[in-house]
Amino acid sequence: MRESDQALGICVLLHLILFRCVFFPIGSSFSFGDRGIGINYGRLGTNLPPPDIAAKLIASSHIKHVKTFDMDPFLIQAFTKTNITLSLCIPDEELPALATDATRADLIVQRSILPFIHTTKISSISVGNEVSMIPDLAPHLLPAIKNVYNSLKKFKIHKRIKVSTTHSVAVLAIRSPPSHGIFQDSIAGPIMKPVLRFLNKTQSPFMVNLYPYLTYKETTEVPLDFALFTAKPNHYYTDPNTSLVYTNLFDILVDALNAAAASLGFNNLTLVVTEMGCPTNGHANDYVLIFGAWFII
Ligand SMILES: *[C@@H]1O[C@H](CO)[C@@H](O)[C@H](O)[C@H]1NC(C)=O
Ligand SMILES: *[C@@H]1O[C@H](CO)[C@@H](O)[C@H](O)[C@H]1NC(C)=O
Ligand SMILES: *[C@@H]1O[C@H](CO)[C@@H](O)[C@H](O)[C@H]1NC(C)=O
Ligand SMILES: *[C@@H]1O[C@H](CO)[C@@H](O)[C@H](O)[C@H]1NC(C)=O
Repeated sequence: MRESDQALGICVLLHLILFRCVFFPIGSSFSFGDRGIGINYGRLGTNLPPPDIAAKLIASSHIKHVKTFDMDPFLIQAFTKTNITLSLCIPDEELPALATDATRADLIVQRSILPFIHTTKISSISVGNEVSMIPDLAPHLLPAIKNVYNSLKKFKIHKRIKVSTTHSVAVLAIRSPPSHGIFQDSIAGPIMKPVLRFLNKTQSPFMVNLYPYLTYKETTEVPLDFALFTAKPNHYYTDPNTSLVYTNLFDILVDALNAAAASLGFNNLTLVVTEMGCPTNGHANDYVLIFGAWFII
């Protein structure tokens, strides 16, 4: 989700998750895997606590992974010695300059990574957030990713810190049946293929923001309980091609993304769901409460 949308009240509270899914196809096995759950730390809002207080709060909640929307050294500093793994993000607007000027990447690494490399666990950097569908930015994506990677390599930390970018589910043209998942034609060849090639080569995660709630909202075909992980067998979905039975929409979207990547030749990427969530406020409908109840743990 674009960070600016968060300020509008969708998914402000707990739009979480950072975990590793098992390899394609996962069918109906919903698993939090070995990376565990984390939270996204957006900072567009009012009355937010300063980073050091937020970091203490997160640590005291036993949350082990945090994904940020920026590279602010003060924010990163706040997580030193917390044992929390950080996944950082280079804001979209930096991409055009970053794509053409390798020294910009060096500056970012020198300012936001190197000072904390021994005291903070940084696992990855997302270069931009959901830019693969933005015509003005998408062409800058791969060159920017490569410059960041090369800079990490220069400082010999490219194996420790993975470079990727975060996609939205809108990259999919077909998501059901999941085995037929493919990317939008406009980006499959020019954007997704080269980016996935980079991820495959560097064994970096394929990051996707995945909101069953938004898919549920935009179509009339999905029963509410299927989006909520509470479907009874009469609402299960069977992929006619693979005969896999799906108990929820989340698994369908995950498998459709893996199928889309496989259709471009990449069947061994690690898919990481970098955002997920639901509104907990600002919407009148009852299902909002149900979504909220499911996720607040
Ligand atoms: C830090 O986290 C790792 C795994 O994420 C865990 O094995 C270790 O015990 C933690 N250390 C402390 C001091 O909490
Ligand atoms: C159907 O699934 C098989 C694997 O189960 C796959 O090889 C084939 O390409 C799929 N067909 C279509 C039309 O997607
Ligand atoms: C993915 O990476 C592996 C290992 O480096 C390589 O053998 C394979 O050809 C790559 N796949 C594609 C489609 O580039
Ligand atoms: C698939 O990915 C895993 C984990 O990234 C790796 O260990 C394995 O070697 C890969 N297999 C192939 C055939 O590339």
